[in-house]
Amino acid sequence: MKGLLAVLALAASLKLCNGAIVAPRDASPEVLAAEALAAPMILADRAIPNSPSGGYTPGAVDCPSTRPTVRLANSLSPSETAWLQKRRPATVDPMITWLSRMNISGFDAATYINTHKANTSLIPNIGIAASGGGYRALLNGAGFLAAADSRTHNSTNKGQIGGLLQATTYVAGLSGGSWLVGSMYSNNFSSVETLRDGSKGSSVWKYGNSIFEGPDTDSIQVLSTADYFRTISDQVSGKANAGLGFNSSITDYWGRALSFQLINATSGGPAYTFSSIALADNFVNGEIPFPLIVADERSPNTQIVSLNSTVYEFNPFEMGSWDPTTYGFVPTEYLGTNFSGGSVVANQQCVRGFDNAGYVMGTSSTLFNQFLLQIDNQTAIPTFLRNIFTGILTGIGEVNNDIAQYQPNPFFGFNNGTNRNSGETELTLVDGGEDLQNIPLYPLIQPNREVDVIFAIDSSADTEDVDTHTWPNGASLVATYRRSLNATIENSTAFPSIPSIPTFVNLGLNNRPTFFGCNATNITAGQNGMSPLIVYLPNAPYVFNSNITTFTAAYNNTVRNAMIENGYDVATMGNGTLDAEWPTCMACAVLSRSFTKTGTAPPPACNTCFQRYCWNGTTDSSTPASYEPTFKLAEINVASAATATMNVAKLGVYAGALVATVAIMFV
Ligand SMILES: *[C@@H]1O[C@H](CO)[C@@H](O)[C@H](O)[C@H]1NC(C)=O
Ligand SMILES: *[C@@H]1O[C@H](CO)[C@@H](O)[C@H](O)[C@H]1NC(C)=O
Ligand SMILES: *[C@@H]1O[C@H](CO)[C@@H](O)[C@H](O)[C@H]1NC(C)=O
Ligand SMILES: *[C@@H]1O[C@H](CO)[C@@H](O)[C@H](O)[C@H]1NC(C)=O
Ligand SMILES: *[C@@H]1O[C@H](CO)[C@@H](O)[C@H](O)[C@H]1NC(C)=O
Ligand SMILES: *[C@@H]1O[C@H](CO)[C@@H](O)[C@H](O)[C@H]1NC(C)=O
Ligand SMILES: *[C@@H]1O[C@H](CO)[C@@H](O)[C@H](O)[C@H]1NC(C)=O
Ligand SMILES: *[C@@H]1O[C@H](CO)[C@@H](O)[C@H](O)[C@H]1NC(C)=O
Ligand SMILES: *[C@@H]1O[C@H](CO)[C@@H](O)[C@H](O)[C@H]1NC(C)=O
Ligand SMILES: *[C@@H]1O[C@H](CO)[C@@H](O)[C@H](O)[C@H]1NC(C)=O
Ligand SMILES: *[C@@H]1O[C@H](CO)[C@@H](O)[C@H](O)[C@H]1NC(C)=O
Ligand SMILES: *[C@@H]1O[C@H](CO)[C@@H](O)[C@H](O)[C@H]1NC(C)=O
Repeated sequence: MKGLLAVLALAASLKLCNGAIVAPRDASPEVLAAEALAAPMILADRAIPNSPSGGYTPGAVDCPSTRPTVRLANSLSPSETAWLQKRRPATVDPMITWLSRMNISGFDAATYINTHKANTSLIPNIGIAASGGGYRALLNGAGFLAAADSRTHNSTNKGQIGGLLQATTYVAGLSGGSWLVGSMYSNNFSSVETLRDGSKGSSVWKYGNSIFEGPDTDSIQVLSTADYFRTISDQVSGKANAGLGFNSSITDYWGRALSFQLINATSGGPAYTFSSIALADNFVNGEIPFPLIVADERSPNTQIVSLNSTVYEFNPFEMGSWDPTTYGFVPTEYLGTNFSGGSVVANQQCVRGFDNAGYVMGTSSTLFNQFLLQIDNQTAIPTFLRNIFTGILTGIGEVNNDIAQYQPNPFFGFNNGTNRNSGETELTLVDGGEDLQNIPLYPLIQPNREVDVIFAIDSSADTEDVDTHTWPNGASLVATYRRSLNATIENSTAFPSIPSIPTFVNLGLNNRPTFFGCNATNITAGQNGMSPLIVYLPNAPYVFNSNITTFTAAYNNTVRNAMIENGYDVATMGNGTLDAEWPTCMACAVLSRSFTKTGTAPPPACNTCFQRYCWNGTTDSSTPASYEPTFKLAEINVASAATATMNVAKLGVYAGALVATVAIMFV
């Protein structure tokens, strides 16, 4: 990495004068620590820019009197347990309101929930999982969250499902899905509608300029592409030169670039941390769900990421893995601190600010480091900048171009017997979809979390077994099912039976909503608790061909909105147009495990739903024909709608010239 540092230094020395750019500061650890102590205890109601350096550079701070430790993954964290005592009761009223509106004939939702609410484990614990798949996944997932959110205009009209989000306990995102989750939570849990419509001067959710160009404006000033790249370069070199032993990777650049689009703050909010979500009032009070972001571990000296690979989650309190390998969690706030054997190394300070929100999103989506590797061909970028970045990227080399480096490795010397990285000073994380589990079910199927139902939004572009033209074919559920069959790695996570990919395509299970695991007792090996019921929601063309290729780097506002609207129609089956009982059926899915736990016979309306939407065990493994779905409803015409709607949208669809370069194209 020496070469990289040299190039970084060069990049830093090229910094031009521009007072508005937040330059990395060159403060000593002592100064940073003093500043951290002096900083007022601000409690803003959003993720906050609380990195001790005030910028992207993490800083050394005094450890709290109880020094942070790495804990075994044998239970929920005390922080999450305490938080749930706020959140679960806070979901009761929204759940009653939502279930009542979903109108299950012959069933009194208020009476049912009120009867059982004293024991929250008997009432539905809802999770939502947004898959990877680049901007396509961000936007399709956004359609679901918009539909589920009672704040969205008209979402509580007849046939719609608004209010589900308010009754939800967990929201997980992976890769493109992590951009959705990370963006919402970094922006005060803003609604999708708010983020989509933006605000004057803000570049948030403006995808018309790709990350190669950067946004037109940065809060108050006009931002040139050169300013934008210089800012990013400065931010990353600040981290690399902090003198705290951090090794930077392409993911640092990528995470910074991404933040300009996802975090509504000057220069992409370089000081916003993921752990600061835990300080936001609405989170503290249990008013919003618990966010989770997923990434995979790459074992030392390999490039192989398989189903056996250790999976990690980031949540506002902790980062780590439930797998029987690493089997530990470190406080997210203290990532970057030098731990050994689970304790902070003697006489060393703690580090804060490493868990930059954009870096966490970038970690979950390292496959899109590929975007940056395209920089060589972006003629809009000044040559000198292109040369700098090409130099940096060449220095990193192919073997490491899809990784995020976590150095120091918080799990160094921890669980030596099983932890594959226990002897490494660096923990290498990659895109959460590289193990083919492209829907972030992992954190939601952990028995400790006792989730009852998962809305699994699949925006994958699957190609295994049958090429589906950038639509999903169930491969992600198949991968999680296969993993659950390995008695070692599954470590008691149960999962419903899932059929083969050909069955998905032949029976159309990848084209309409399907429930898996309706029979709570018929699940895979891990018997420690029930598996959640999975409501599988594959991306499909309702009103728009939302199968835009994974590596499309720019979407104008018209197309962006059409993608969100199609996702909204996936969630609501066209606001009930395709099945007027769909909202009822969603409510039945939510209640299913609760009915089992309370010994309640499902009302007949639910049995009708289960017959209609549960996979009943039928299979058809014959080789499927090419999957070419047709529109379910009238197509939106983006070309003609273009004049009527929205502000400036620079067109720049950098379609997937990359397609040949990466093996795993179907995330
Ligand atoms: C909400 O519904 C009303 C009545 O159908 C319609 O006029 C309005 O445009 C809708 N608003 C949105 C944001 O969809
Ligand atoms: C972006 O931040 C500004 C300043 O805090 C705020 O006024 C604006 O409403 C925000 N925009 C969005 C879309 O959240
Ligand atoms: C798990 O790892 C073993 C050993 O590396 C390998 O042989 C096996 O194929 C892997 N299984 C899966 C499902 O990836
Ligand atoms: C199951 O997972 C373990 C641990 O990763 C691995 O060693 C083993 O090879 C796997 N078994 C199979 C059949 O893939
Ligand atoms: C999960 O793995 C850990 C670490 O190997 C082990 O101690 C624990 O007993 C396992 N839990 C279950 C339920 O199998
Ligand atoms: C740049 O474009 C050329 C021609 O399209 C292509 O061969 C080359 O691989 C591209 N370079 C990169 C870094 O993607
Ligand atoms: C665990 O491994 C680390 C790094 O190799 C080593 O320093 C430490 O002594 C080991 N701890 C135990 C308890 O074996
Ligand atoms: C998107 O889907 C349509 C309909 O199946 C298909 O004709 C088109 O080729 C697909 N687009 C891509 C980029 O695969
Ligand atoms: C559910 O699964 C169990 C065990 O796999 C089986 O005995 C039972 O008959 C199933 N129930 C239904 C209603 O299919
Ligand atoms: C469903 O309702 C939403 C919000 O009102 C709207 O944007 C969408 O176009 C509607 N879909 C259909 C198929 O009418
Ligand atoms: C379990 O469920 C699967 C899928 O529905 C089905 O094929 C199998 O027959 C079921 N087993 C039992 C014992 O019910
Ligand atoms: C947005 O992109 C679509 C598809 O490339 C195009 O048809 C449409 O004209 C564009 N709209 C604007 C306003 O540029």
